[in-house]
Amino acid sequence: MGETMIGIIGGSGVYDIDGLEGAEWRRVESPWGEASDEILFGTLGGVKMAFLPRHGRGHVQSPSSINYRANIDALKRAGVTDVISVSACGSFREEMAPGDFVVVDQFIDRTFAREKSFFGPGCVAHVSVAHPTCPRLGAAVTEAAKAEGIRVHRGGTYLCMEGPQFSSQAESLLYREVWKCDVVGMTNMPEAKLAREAELCYASVAMITDYDSWHPGHDAVDVAAVVAVLSGNAEKARGLVRRLPGLLGPERAPCPHGCDRALEHALITAPAQ
Ligand code: ADE
Repeated sequence: MGETMIGIIGGSGVYDIDGLEGAEWRRVESPWGEASDEILFGTLGGVKMAFLPRHGRGHVQSPSSINYRANIDALKRAGVTDVISVSACGSFREEMAPGDFVVVDQFIDRTFAREKSFFGPGCVAHVSVAHPTCPRLGAAVTEAAKAEGIRVHRGGTYLCMEGPQFSSQAESLLYREVWKCDVVGMTNMPEAKLAREAELCYASVAMITDYDSWHPGHDAVDVAAVVAVLSGNAEKARGLVRRLPGLLGPERAPCPHGCDRALEHALITAPAQ
């Protein structure tokens, strides 16, 4: 058994978490550059916690300017074992309404202007992301949401777009009707891929703010409407986070799905002689 450290990556509207004992913001150095912000460390119900605001306090990093490698590396160096991503997203499904949460389990990566791997020339590795999220962590997050009375959907495909503009109606219809995606956002990729390379369990909570631009009754995404839903969602997310230590506990058994051993057979480059 090891020790649990829960890492939370907060998205739009979620710039801190409350109730932490011994709360302290600390900078974590990374050879991959600057993380989005300092990390807020503390304990909650006897479990170590580390919170990183994805866009930085004051929301200064855009989805394309976030240094995803530095963020994941900083959390790993800090001792985080399990990462829960919290982010705002649009919905492609009538029944996944603004205010609902989706514990996504699949992704389609349409981003093109981001560094996506810790590996490259000199050290080549290919990890599997066939199942990019951790089912054990996803189950705990779903339970936490249910315990908070949040309308939550377990499972869904997240289309990650580059942004910063929202989708055209033609793109929205393609993602919904042809590709059968459930939600759309701008940040979970390459984050999920990098978490797997870093051998971290990763679960993602998509907090729905809008119906993107496919819905006949909701024409275009309107930032004012998104912001109005965001603060309610952020409050729910805080409640969800408070439940996690009780569900995950301070002691951690190895991941039954192997997320924490993802590199075991992934390295191709021969070891230096
Ligand atoms: N974040 C919140 N709503 C979104 C949408 N409709 N598309 C992409 N990212 C979003």
